[in-house]
Amino acid sequence: MENKQIDEVRQGEIMVKEPKQKGGKKLFLESYGCQMNFSDSEIVASILINEGYSTTTDFKEADLIFVNTCAIRENAESRVRQRLQDYKKAKKANKNLLIGVLGCMAERIKHQFLEEEKLVDMVVGPDAYRDLPNLIAVAESGQQAINVILSKEETYADISPVRLDHNGVSAFVSIMRGCDNMCSFCVVPFTRGRERSREPETIVRECKEAFDNGYREVTLLGQNVNSYLWTGGGLKKENLTEEQRANATTFAQLLEMVAMIHPDLRVRYSTSHPKDMGDDVLIAMAKYENICKYVHLPVQSGSTALLEKMNRGYSREWYLDRIAAIRRILPDAAISSDIIVGFCGETDQEHQDTVSLMNEIKYEFAYMFAYSERPKTLAERKYADDVPNEIKSKRLSQIVDLQRKHSEIRTKEGVGKRHRVLIEGVSKKSDEMLSGRNSQNTVVVFPKGNHKKGEYVNVLATSCTSSTLIGEVVK
Ligand code: 5AD
Ligand code: SF4
Repeated sequence: MENKQIDEVRQGEIMVKEPKQKGGKKLFLESYGCQMNFSDSEIVASILINEGYSTTTDFKEADLIFVNTCAIRENAESRVRQRLQDYKKAKKANKNLLIGVLGCMAERIKHQFLEEEKLVDMVVGPDAYRDLPNLIAVAESGQQAINVILSKEETYADISPVRLDHNGVSAFVSIMRGCDNMCSFCVVPFTRGRERSREPETIVRECKEAFDNGYREVTLLGQNVNSYLWTGGGLKKENLTEEQRANATTFAQLLEMVAMIHPDLRVRYSTSHPKDMGDDVLIAMAKYENICKYVHLPVQSGSTALLEKMNRGYSREWYLDRIAAIRRILPDAAISSDIIVGFCGETDQEHQDTVSLMNEIKYEFAYMFAYSERPKTLAERKYADDVPNEIKSKRLSQIVDLQRKHSEIRTKEGVGKRHRVLIEGVSKKSDEMLSGRNSQNTVVVFPKGNHKKGEYVNVLATSCTSSTLIGEVVK
């Protein structure tokens, strides 16, 4: 399934010590959408820095603007369109400015951006980033450039990403690309193509490099990490002999390989799919202290009938059984979810099934969305988007309120306990406080003392807000 959404928009500025000069050209790179997209932007930055670009956070001084886009819901696309209009205006001031759209919207909308709307000079899908230097050259010659070919093999395994984050503590590492699940609401299989796994050695190497560069946390990314399988390259999962299957690397094995790099390197992952979430992954998590006790397991709906329409491949009972397995094998684990309200034909009773499931589980955290119909998806072709907007909004605010209560209950449970915290930096609210997260992904703040980001400290939580623990460092 899909990765967690990041609401904020990050603009990457990279310090390059010795850029290969290409007339000092400047790149402004903006990313929308999921963690996978942010991770892709780091690949794009790596490719372009190699071409001699340096980056800027001011689009007005850029020679090249790339917007890495998301197509998951209509409002994600509207935000990008708005931004592209702003950039088009910037082109009036700088005739040589080139603008490109990357990622999922590029894949979905293809020629329309270039031909009908003349919004951009380049359209580049998520599997075509190696072609960027070539596409830029085409655009520089005054022609429109497009490459939206999806690949069955591309994993960018050999490209060392340029880290665009500013905290220098946690890094995203893609372990696979694409998605084969065909959830009926989801555009991802169309924008990111078929599922393919990346060679484990290259993943371990990238994580080790991050650790050597001071990072203390890696998040392994994939649309459905539980179906990760490295078969030695080129072999299709469906056609494996028993021997080939026994020799393949599973996600549980990959997790262990990464966990063994160093006990001070925390390992997280996103996203799991309930239908493929086996006990082996949970057992691997229990075995290593440095694999964080946090599972993001998107349920989408609490109604079996709706789950079937969503083509999720599991029932409410199956999902609750997986939750029971997490609680049994990882009693300390935090669990979060993604939930959609107002999917095609959702009745009041079906919505109540979601509410009762939330009450039963009491997630630490949830990302909640109103259903947004996406072109080409199974749902668009098969079902009417017939839940009125007012009802979608009402249901959404009902579950948002409920989740707020659950998050509060879960945060309170952490008060009075000792938490091992990886320090990520100064707290947003006070320069005198540091902030980090515990293994369960809850933010913990505490007085600075002599501690620095990237260090681990034990914090005794003495109070909390609705979602943050507050405490002091103890031995
Ligand atoms: N409408 C609303 N939410 C969606 N998601 C995916 N597709 C849609 C859609 N068409 C949500 C799912 C997914 C999360 C990343 O986004 O909950 O898990
Ligand atoms: Fe990420 Fe693309 Fe999905 Fe958006 S549509 S969440 S960018 S994979």
